[in-house]
Amino acid sequence: MSNEFEGQGVVVSGAAQGIGEAVARYFVARGALVVAFDLDGDLLERTTSSMGSDAVAVSGDVAVRADVKRAVDACLEHAGSIDIMVAHAGIADVRPLLEVTDEQWRRVFAVNVDGVFLCTQEAARVMRPGGRVVVTASTNAIQVEENLVAYSASKGAVVTFVRAAALDLARHGVRINAVAPGVVNTRIARWVIEDPVLGPEYLKKIPIGRFGEPDDIAGAVGFLAGPASSYMTGQTIILDGGQTLGIPLDDDGNRSDNLPGDSS
Ligand SMILES: NC(=O)c1ccc[n+]([C@@H]2O[C@H](COP(=O)([O-])OP(=O)(O)OC[C@H]3O[C@@H](n4cnc5c(N)ncnc54)[C@H](O)[C@@H]3O)[C@@H](O)[C@H]2O)c1
Repeated sequence: MSNEFEGQGVVVSGAAQGIGEAVARYFVARGALVVAFDLDGDLLERTTSSMGSDAVAVSGDVAVRADVKRAVDACLEHAGSIDIMVAHAGIADVRPLLEVTDEQWRRVFAVNVDGVFLCTQEAARVMRPGGRVVVTASTNAIQVEENLVAYSASKGAVVTFVRAAALDLARHGVRINAVAPGVVNTRIARWVIEDPVLGPEYLKKIPIGRFGEPDDIAGAVGFLAGPASSYMTGQTIILDGGQTLGIPLDDDGNRSDNLPGDSS
């Protein structure tokens, strides 16, 4: 494994499992000193202890400024600097618009939007020029789905936040970009992937023919945090196996969503 991020200080929110865990492992494997930050303190302890002494755990809520600041301070202590902030933690709330309560709406925005704002601001305030922020958006920012209105709106806000923040942070030498995953095999997406009807139906809409894995996303986060993307800021990379490109044809030349296709 390369030492591309040797000695660099990295905070990853939502690191106790899934994509965030894969991102934390990606940086540890490449020499970084990582603060793994998550609301689920018990799981976080277990996950982080299996990463070795280059990773430390800080439990807290990305929607609470004092918790985010504790994670950033822990990184300054652990690594001497914060070079990379990965604002990844997020939640989904699956229900029809007419049933969404004020509390559910506000919690999705508190975690997905306030969390990204707080992580970005607290990190950028103490980053040296050359610092990088990578945010997790979602394909739901551009291709919406029924029963995901709060989640989709929050991810749309995240994509625009990244564009606007990139303008403000450029003068400080800090870059900010986002990844927008499609359906990735983690807890948050199991209700789709493991559903015996929905899962196979959904798969038909993914030209590459499989759901994403956490490491598929971690590699792109590494690119956005590394020197190969040094001329890039304010952008969102879509990683969805081609899902948002359109509807692929099935083996018989028909549209895989069962609408008439052109097989000529
Ligand atoms: N898995 C997918 O299909 C998919 C697709 C697109 C985007 N995403 C995004 O990825 C992120 C979720 O990652 P995942 O797929 O690994 O899901 P996950 O549910 O496996 O992990 C999310 C982690 O975030 C933590 N978390 C939740 N709320 C938090 C808070 N307020 N403060 C700190 N930590 C908190 C959870 O405890 C959990 O460990 C979200 O931003 C989500 O929108 C996921």
